Amino acid sequence: RKKVTLGTLRSLHRKREPITVMTAHDFPSGHVADHAGMDIVLVGDSLAMVALGMEDTSEILLEEMILHCRSVARASKTAFTVGDLPMGSYEISPEQALGSAIRVIKEGRVQGIKLEGGKEMASTIRKITTAGIPVLGHIGLTPQRQNALGGFRVQGKTSSGALSILEDALAIQEAGCFAMVIEAVPAEVAALITEKLSIPTIGIGAGNGCSGQVLVQIDMTGNFPPGRFIPKFVKKYGDVWGESMRAIETYRDEVKSRQYPAPEHTYPISSEELETFTK
Ligand code: KIV
Ligand code: NA
Repeated sequence: RKKVTLGTLRSLHRKREPITVMTAHDFPSGHVADHAGMDIVLVGDSLAMVALGMEDTSEILLEEMILHCRSVARASKTAFTVGDLPMGSYEISPEQALGSAIRVIKEGRVQGIKLEGGKEMASTIRKITTAGIPVLGHIGLTPQRQNALGGFRVQGKTSSGALSILEDALAIQEAGCFAMVIEAVPAEVAALITEKLSIPTIGIGAGNGCSGQVLVQIDMTGNFPPGRFIPKFVKKYGDVWGESMRAIETYRDEVKSRQYPAPEHTYPISSEELETFTK
């Protein structure tokens, strides 16, 4: 496969072929997403919670996001790779946002950035896209603002709420976003917004009428202990936790019973050398 570019994404959108997006947070998770043929690999700041165990995404620093972007970018050879601007790295001014975006591109080695927000972020998005950095928007539920939103709640459930998200979508399209994530919005609302836009929408908890879909890799591969809460929209396609448990428990048992390492896992020494050594 050839490297996915904005041109590739535009052509997929034109053909109404769904755009596949998967998050990644390090070299192996980036590698597998890229090999599985994802169009976009997103280094989402959800990694703060799912990969670093932080309470919420507000804790992660720009420097830390850059490190994760760089490790994913080394593995993501084909997918268009996008890094999230973390909370605090872009809200102060368009200049601050551009500075952070440039760092994520130069040091994180990804091809584009994502930031959360609608109309109020339009001038910031314009500043970054004008500098030649592709911006993926993110509207609807914006997790970095969870405290202001009163938690992780579905957005656009009222006619005025839905209208406000449509205005956000139009504003950030106008500001030059190449696509936008729509998170946790009723399917009908996301589908209508998608119809009204000329750029692709990437849904998460936003139904099947979007131009593409994104999921958090650790959620969808089932790489978490049984009983952990996962949002309604997540489909668990795998059981990575179960497979890792099986492997590590078997290893534990084989070490305890001295079944591992077996002769085939050891290095030989010639009998002559051994004899001299043991003398
Ligand atoms: O941080 C993240 O993983 C995201 C996606 C879920 C869109 O923003
Ligand atoms: Na995010």
